[in-house]
Amino acid sequence: MEDLKQKAAAAAYQLVQPGMLVGFGAGSTIAHLIEKIKLDENLARSITAVTSSFNTQQLLQAHQIKTQAISVTTYLDIYFDGCDLFDQSLNALKSGGGIHTREKLLAAMARDFILIGDGSKFVPQLLVNVPVVIEVLQEAIFFVQQQILQLWPNAKAILRLSNKKDGAVITEHGNALIDIYFESMPAVGMINTSLKAIPGVLETSLFYQMATQAIIADKKSVQHIYR
Ligand code: 5RP
Repeated sequence: MEDLKQKAAAAAYQLVQPGMLVGFGAGSTIAHLIEKIKLDENLARSITAVTSSFNTQQLLQAHQIKTQAISVTTYLDIYFDGCDLFDQSLNALKSGGGIHTREKLLAAMARDFILIGDGSKFVPQLLVNVPVVIEVLQEAIFFVQQQILQLWPNAKAILRLSNKKDGAVITEHGNALIDIYFESMPAVGMINTSLKAIPGVLETSLFYQMATQAIIADKKSVQHIYR
């Protein structure tokens, strides 16, 4: 799998031009992309990076790639990120890592949002075995769970618990995460509007009609898929 991710990252590297303001998400494919950029010293020196991920920030700093805070950023030339799954229309499900709110902010700032990964991420239709994750105000957890069950009585809305300590996972913004497993996948176009209409829900992990291109590698080739 790692060599497929490296191949996808190598193809993504071709899209980075000197002087660009480049967004980077999280994950192992993104790490391969940064390693590839680092080998091109002139390019690495010329770009400015903005990232949604603490680990990616550490890697950028270790490679002395200039970084800029999200809070002073309103535009990116390009944003690269991995995902858990994406479909033919480039709708993506993310947030195994629970940082989708920041990732979506960067994706929305970017002229081009490029998904990169190995071929296992590409499915004809998004699947119910990967949850839609929502970031939720702590005070709203029970209310939001109840509202979700009113909308989709057969869904499971599970508060994400920490496997390291007693209690829930708390995001860097001080919020909780709820993983929603649907019995059957609702129409993708209405998931965000339904969930974001519930008071207390900050953001969902469904990146609907946001990506402009996906670069995926399988054993035979690297494919570029455009929206
Ligand atoms: C987490 C994500 C990551 O971007 C994704 O999991 C990264 O995957 P990989 O390590 O295979 O590049 O969306 O929610």
